[in-house]
Amino acid sequence: MSEDFLIATGSKQDQYETILPQLKAIIEGEEDLIANLANVAAVLKEQFNWLWVGFYLVKKEELVLGPFQGPIACTRIKKGKGVCGTSWAEKRTMIVADVVKFPGHIACSSLSRSEIVIPLIINGIVIGVLDADSEFVNHFDNTDKKYLEQIVGLIPVNVHEHNA
Ligand code: SME
Repeated sequence: MSEDFLIATGSKQDQYETILPQLKAIIEGEEDLIANLANVAAVLKEQFNWLWVGFYLVKKEELVLGPFQGPIACTRIKKGKGVCGTSWAEKRTMIVADVVKFPGHIACSSLSRSEIVIPLIINGIVIGVLDADSEFVNHFDNTDKKYLEQIVGLIPVNVHEHNA
């Protein structure tokens, strides 16, 4: 278990490339979903210091707040609602450059200005989403999309244990 996480420097791509093997090492050998989600959120917060980063998990037809780092957040989101619920319904990563211009955006924090949401898809079923919020407009791009999709792909999920 690596307890020391090394903060990376360089371009955004360099930073992701440096944290990826560390994340693999942290996740490797741990099968508990919540434990892994908690550490992924902690690594991303430490590395990028986004306003908010964390997970929502599908439970009984709603997204329910899971492990996260940042200010308190909305606890439940319905399918198709907000950026998270849209990512769930459309099974795709959503990059919102300016949340003010996204109809139906759910403002958990008034400081949030841009957002990226990546669905966790297992056997074609969305079991949750990774959500990151920034206080800066236009903060997330295709580099974030590429690496965050890889990062959520590292997380082992036992669908029988998950009550999606
Ligand atoms: N803004 C999100 C809600 C979750 S919070 O940002 C943590 C949305 O529109 O789905």
